[in-house]
Amino acid sequence: KWFPFWKTLWRLTYGSLIVGTAITSYSIYATRHPVDQPNPDPSKKTLVILGSGWGSASLLKKIDASQYNIIVVSPRNFFLFTPLLPSCTTGTIEHRSIMEPIRAIIRNKEASVTYYEAEATNIDYENKKLVIKESANHDREQISSTRTIDFDYMVIGVGAQNSTFGIPGVQDNACFLKEIPDAQKIRQKIMDRIEAASFKNLDDEDRKRLLHTVVVGGGPTGVEFAAELQDFFEEDLKKWIPEIAKDFKVTLVEALPNVLPSFSKQLIEYTEKTFQAEKITVLTKTMVKKVTSDVVTAEATNADGTKEIIELPYGLLVWATGNSARPVIRDLMSRIPAQKNSRRGLLVNEYLVVEGTEGIWAVGDCTATKYAPTAQVATQQGIYLAGLFNQLAHAVTLEEEITQLEQIVKSATNEQDRKAALSEVDSRTRRLRRSRSLLPFEYSHQGSLAYIGSDRAVADLSFWGNSSNFATGGSLTYLFWRSAYVSMCFSTRNKLLVIMDWLKVKIFGRDVSRE
Ligand code: FAD
Ligand code: NAI
Repeated sequence: KWFPFWKTLWRLTYGSLIVGTAITSYSIYATRHPVDQPNPDPSKKTLVILGSGWGSASLLKKIDASQYNIIVVSPRNFFLFTPLLPSCTTGTIEHRSIMEPIRAIIRNKEASVTYYEAEATNIDYENKKLVIKESANHDREQISSTRTIDFDYMVIGVGAQNSTFGIPGVQDNACFLKEIPDAQKIRQKIMDRIEAASFKNLDDEDRKRLLHTVVVGGGPTGVEFAAELQDFFEEDLKKWIPEIAKDFKVTLVEALPNVLPSFSKQLIEYTEKTFQAEKITVLTKTMVKKVTSDVVTAEATNADGTKEIIELPYGLLVWATGNSARPVIRDLMSRIPAQKNSRRGLLVNEYLVVEGTEGIWAVGDCTATKYAPTAQVATQQGIYLAGLFNQLAHAVTLEEEITQLEQIVKSATNEQDRKAALSEVDSRTRRLRRSRSLLPFEYSHQGSLAYIGSDRAVADLSFWGNSSNFATGGSLTYLFWRSAYVSMCFSTRNKLLVIMDWLKVKIFGRDVSRE
């Protein structure tokens, strides 16, 4: 009696496997064999997109590029999946696994899309002119040139730079964690310090200093990096270089009373308890004031409210105290009267138009909005703008069609043709009205997730609009955290590479060789 059911189920599974494999194979084939792209069409508007990060890449992915001549300008010729960047500092993930070439994204558009590996240096918002600076290494010689691009529309998605608050010594002595070279530098320095600390003729004080990593900033970047480093020590370094075990130390310094200030109280407590168990020292209410090449000086507030100056000798210093606006953004803000009160970034209206400009939009970390500077916000803004540009292009097509139909109405020789054309004008006018009624951008928070080490993660999740706290550890969280990040990776290639890196580390451990 059950036989036909199982047979049908088997056929369905088998069938969907074949169809799934065929679709995936075709999409990989299509990505590897892009079609020829047309030249720019002078009758179309030129849209310049600055940046190749979360905001710009999601806009590029969703926009109907055939409606515009698109020019992408970014000094980084790839998209970077930042949530897994802390894992690159210890070799849990190899950096190329989280990079997606911008060429792969734009070359698969059946439209005119040009890419310049360059930095935007000046945005003339009134005359719609952009100055870019290209620089490259040519036969060991650094060459650079500037060029000016005319545009009709622009989307600014240049992100932000690291903030140092002008604290003396930070820029010269600290490592940051924003881009691939930052992660590579940290990975190299970790091994440098460890190998140096293994020198036999070092005194105790110097060895302790070299093996002490100070992380400044208890936001998600600082917390995730500290967690990754402690995992590296516990799972690999301690086994390969046991002589460093007793002196290896990670200290996280945070100016506020607790780490992860944007998470719920329950998750903060869970994180601090987990760090205590992992032997990561957390110094809260401690504000770093000065940095030299081997000592961090901070002002700590004691429980009774008194303040004291403490000194933390370090081997590696990682600075993660948030964002500040890039020079090109600061320069633009200084020239737009409507932006004069903004410090954090570009002020935008509810349609993401840069206040005080026309035809210029901004997304992500370069803006100052009520939202946190996260990948989630930048992605949703990019997708929103893609919809807006598609709608705008649709409206232009409808306007052209209406003009042509109106000509037909005027020149119609019989009543039937005239009525038919009139009814078409009517229906297109209704559609045009709908396309012009743009909805403002609305952010939908899907939750926050942070890795806190020892296969534990904390998550503030939203279910059907209600936020729920979810703090747990063990295999379930481990699986959840990893599957969430894999599902968010940009391409199938990235997803596969990330899974393979995790498997590699589970089987063989992390690579402790020094490059
Ligand atoms: P970015 O992604 O920073 O991209 C900016 C782009 O602009 C880059 O391509 C850059 O090369 C380019 N650019 C820079 N200067 C110029 C110029 N002058 N001209 C032209 N182009 C320029 N958020 C989350 O939601 N979840 C997470 O788990 C998470 N983890 C993170 C982990 C780390 C280590 C870091 C640093 C950030 C993390 N974030 C996370 C935050 C998230 O990465 C940012 O909010 C997001 O990258 C912002 O996107 P964006 O497009 O505005 O800028
Ligand atoms: P942040 O702004 O979130 O945190 C920086 C921390 O540094 C603050 O808590 C601040 O009090 C502290 N600080 C500032 N100056 C200090 C000083 N002199 N001494 C000691 N502490 C000091 O910055 P972060 O972590 O770089 O994150 C930037 C953005 O990226 C945030 O919006 C964050 O949500 C997002 N992000 C999200 C992640 C996730 O969701 N898993 C991971 C990483 C970043």
